[in-house]
Amino acid sequence: MTLCLLVGITLTAGAKEADYLLSTPNTTLCITAEVGKPLYFRYYGSKAEVGDIRATGRMLKYDAYPAFGTRCDAPYASLVKQHDGDNATKFVVDKVEKSTNGALTTLSVWLRDVAHSNLVVKVNYSAYNDCDVVKMNTEYFNNGKKPMVLQKYMSAVLPIQSDNCVLLQLDGSTKNECNEHTMPLPVGIHTIASQVGSRISQYNNASFMLGLDGKLEETACPVIAGTLVWMGNYHFEFHNTHIARTPTLFMGGINPAASDYTLAGGKSLVTPEMVLTYATNGKGEATRSLHRWARKHQLLDGTKEREVLLNSWEGVHFDISETSMVDMTKDFAALGGEMFVVDDGWFGDKYPRNNGTSSLGDWCIAPSKLPNGIRPLIDLAHNNGMKFGIWIEPEMVNVTSELYEKHPDWVLRHPDFEPTYGRGKTQLLLDLTNPKVQDHVFSVVDDLLTQYPDIYYIKWDNNMSMHNAQSQYLPKALQSNLTVDFTLALENILKRIRAKYPTVVIQLCASGGARLNYGFMPYFQEMWTSDQTDAYHRVLIQWGAMNFYPSNMLAAHVGSAFSKYTQRFIPIKYRFDVASMCRLGMEMVPAKLNDAEREYAKRAIAEYKNIRPVVQQGDLYRLVSPYEGKRDFTSLMYVTESKDRAVLFAYRHLFKHDMSNIIIRLQGLNPDAKYRIREVAPEVAGKPVKINGAVVSGRVLMQEGVVIPELVKGFTRNAPLGEVRAGNDFRSVILELTEVK
Ligand code: DGJ
Repeated sequence: MTLCLLVGITLTAGAKEADYLLSTPNTTLCITAEVGKPLYFRYYGSKAEVGDIRATGRMLKYDAYPAFGTRCDAPYASLVKQHDGDNATKFVVDKVEKSTNGALTTLSVWLRDVAHSNLVVKVNYSAYNDCDVVKMNTEYFNNGKKPMVLQKYMSAVLPIQSDNCVLLQLDGSTKNECNEHTMPLPVGIHTIASQVGSRISQYNNASFMLGLDGKLEETACPVIAGTLVWMGNYHFEFHNTHIARTPTLFMGGINPAASDYTLAGGKSLVTPEMVLTYATNGKGEATRSLHRWARKHQLLDGTKEREVLLNSWEGVHFDISETSMVDMTKDFAALGGEMFVVDDGWFGDKYPRNNGTSSLGDWCIAPSKLPNGIRPLIDLAHNNGMKFGIWIEPEMVNVTSELYEKHPDWVLRHPDFEPTYGRGKTQLLLDLTNPKVQDHVFSVVDDLLTQYPDIYYIKWDNNMSMHNAQSQYLPKALQSNLTVDFTLALENILKRIRAKYPTVVIQLCASGGARLNYGFMPYFQEMWTSDQTDAYHRVLIQWGAMNFYPSNMLAAHVGSAFSKYTQRFIPIKYRFDVASMCRLGMEMVPAKLNDAEREYAKRAIAEYKNIRPVVQQGDLYRLVSPYEGKRDFTSLMYVTESKDRAVLFAYRHLFKHDMSNIIIRLQGLNPDAKYRIREVAPEVAGKPVKINGAVVSGRVLMQEGVVIPELVKGFTRNAPLGEVRAGNDFRSVILELTEVK
């Protein structure tokens, strides 16, 4: 038996030896683990000692990992069917271990099933010492010889002492991702879940925020936020029973639906990590804690600057030719661009890729489209001082492809049913559980980077969910292992790729944001946030996503003035200003810009490079939400850690005659510092907004705020840039604040 108390544990009056505290700089989690007894969850909140938690009545006593079989009327996190059919479990603590790895301290509690000696579950609680984030997950062991079936195997159980929670969650669909929804947590059991197999954030997101005192405010009120680190189907349960003395209960983990997991004797299964943060100062603070954690610990190259790129997709779609690529490369270089990316349409020999109906799987250059290959394009980018990137969709195949002709058994499908096809009515998902398929997917990247080691960036797309959740590789008895094994296989492929290619920048895309989850982010540097490039729509999507994901993880591209998705015209300044709040890029044919737009784009890109360190690494403060109030305005800002620089974004969407000014109260500044204000990329060079040049104290900026009259004026200042006039709608301003020392 190993029983060690945590470093930093304070046993004060009222504390028992079996009380374990895990602390981050500002928060504490407490459990009670006594050998031979159930594991109890006691507290998650502000930094505190056991005595304080007990004395204030904030000490809960809730089964920390409830299993089916002991209290069958209560929610359970674990349901395990033994080979003889018995599914009742009674967990007691066997031992407790502590380990430290860099900034992370982990407390592992081993639970054994009193009724079945083969079943052991390790419950892990971890805390960082450099950000306010804790993590929970579990590990299931089958120590017997016969298989057992895991029917529910949650990662995390979090009892919350509040019966008045307000929930924020994200919902949406393609080109409308990450809509922010806030509502009182309904009475009963509320679930947020994904069952689509591989594009798990297609309709919702494995993240949530809970305001604990009947409100969910930006700058005040206690908040718990969470996000599950998992590339596969997920399941969140919020139990809000309103039974006196029963806490609100959150559970999160792998979605058990159609995923009974057969665990062979001697095997184990590690469940994904549930990441949690607790904030006393509202959801703004919760967001900033998650962003800091992500940049430091989860997102690949999270503190490295991201380049400004042009992607060919919206400009030419499948119409890739040497001429069009050469022109785009040169024109983008002239705007100050840093990278050119060739999107879909460059591959397929026997079946050249001209639309979505063929060629996936045949990752060789289409001679009919690029007769000289991509070498000249890579060299051209380099000769123009830019990097080069290329699109692939390696987990897929079209039935019209040489790959499918050779390996029809490599796809997910039921052998007796006509499969459900994806895009182009011919697309199918490869069966990643098959080791030969894993080698193939690895080799798609490996071959490309072996042949062209100077490819700097890959866009990894995924345009089909797991419509056919049957493996031709797994035996019938293990079909319900598919969703988990598929996800683990994907992770193995990504690990292999990263072991060989640690530095290549890989963007994750899934028809936009259908894979927005931290599970992917140790392997990818960024995510294509959405195919929706209408800048107004993008404000809503980016705002929603940034509740949980930082700006440098979210690719945001300036599309054409006319959005084919919304049939709306938006002027170039607003489009640039919206994309500049994340990782800036462009998605158009630059040659189609008129002179004034081209001049503006050049200035905007140069200015972005200037503010990039603040935008990509600063702390986010949300000032005016597009989801609240009149919804006419949106404003947010980034502030450096030392508070010496900040960048404010302010957008006024639709125009109304005689609109009232909005006071934007800034946040996150040093109240005692003075800041010089400078407009970034004014609409007309040399004619900035009136506030430009002012020097104002942080205190006044935060307490009294700023009013930018140019935002509410009609067409009196300057005509919007570009041939296509959006009238008075869609005005925006970016202000840079620099501390005057
Ligand atoms: C879907 C992506 O979201 C787009 O950006 C583009 O890459 C297309 N796929 C290409 O087929």
